[in-house]
Amino acid sequence: MNTAAPSTLTVPFVDLKAQFALIGDEVLDAIGEVCRDAKFCLGPAVEEFEKGFAEFCETQHGVAVNSGTSALHLALRCLDIGPGDEVITVPATFVATAWAISYVGATPVFVDIDPAARTMDPALLEAAITPKTRAIMPVHLYGQPADMGPILKIAAAHGLPVVEDAAQAHGATYKKDRVGGIGRIGCFSFYPGKNLGAYGEGGALVTNDENIAQRARALRDHGQRQRYIHEEVGYNYRMEGIQGAVLSVKLDFIDEWNAARRQHAADYIDRLTDLPGLTLPKMYKDRKSVFHLFVVELNNRDGVARKLNEAGVQTGLHYPVPVHLQPAYRHLGLTDGAFPHSERLAKRCLSLPMFPELTSAQIDHVCEQLAANLFKS
Ligand SMILES: Cc1ncc(COP(=O)(O)O)c(C=O)c1O
Repeated sequence: MNTAAPSTLTVPFVDLKAQFALIGDEVLDAIGEVCRDAKFCLGPAVEEFEKGFAEFCETQHGVAVNSGTSALHLALRCLDIGPGDEVITVPATFVATAWAISYVGATPVFVDIDPAARTMDPALLEAAITPKTRAIMPVHLYGQPADMGPILKIAAAHGLPVVEDAAQAHGATYKKDRVGGIGRIGCFSFYPGKNLGAYGEGGALVTNDENIAQRARALRDHGQRQRYIHEEVGYNYRMEGIQGAVLSVKLDFIDEWNAARRQHAADYIDRLTDLPGLTLPKMYKDRKSVFHLFVVELNNRDGVARKLNEAGVQTGLHYPVPVHLQPAYRHLGLTDGAFPHSERLAKRCLSLPMFPELTSAQIDHVCEQLAANLFKS
């Protein structure tokens, strides 16, 4: 029995208020400028952000939209993917990766993950390619870059474009390259809790292909390149001016924030490394994760999460049901056992608190509570 006095320290899962306390004045000034300028939908603040973000991703073009899901959808529209086509991705992701495939009327085809990396296993990719395959969509899950070298090689051998779902991986690198700019198109989310988060919804595509960038710009704005001339069926996927302004302010801090996340991850790994039964994220020499999430794996995950919560430690589950087992994809006829590594991750994953302003005392508290409750729950 634990006889120690209950700790009063609480550790939130993310703390966006702590970030606002640091940059609030700058953010409010930037929002004020958009309001004074009255350029609320797209406009100069969005254009400035697009330029800055493309530069950050080391790509020629950035197209800002209203969510990561929209970015993924537009990426597949720009590649003319539609009904009868197949797009390969992983079941271990947020469901929006697959939504984009469904939105264009194509069929998601899944490839299991490498259990250590938790990203697409290139060794399984070739076998999933059929004459209907039109694109490959690896996901840089939790901020960890997928193994892009072999994925690109297989894609090139089959003449297939690669669309990176980099929604969780702003600034992550594979060898020397920033993710998002490695494949034909990279898609990002700026949902508030992301490493680079808006003050509302947001997303972007990045690419070095000028035609794709121009088409995405038209599609996000009702399919018009010229006002009131709608060349194809488009969407209202425009980014709001206020979000562009907020994101430009935050872009100046992203490298610093990512470095802090990496330091916290190293500290977690240091403190947790000897705990039996606990699987930690794997660090790779050639891939630099930006630790959007710090995910450990353990049996009896739900019991441990409950105990941590009682001890003031908030945790998350990313994601408890793999995409192929979601009710929305029942029609694909995929059952438990189809993708064992993704299924095992879904059952055992537990996301520990991770945000740049996390303190050493908070990390200590999380690790002490995890160690204390690992075998008791
Ligand atoms: C891997 C992944 N893909 C796509 C998305 C969709 O992004 P958004 O929520 O901005 O639409 C997310 C966001 O949670 C994500 O984590």
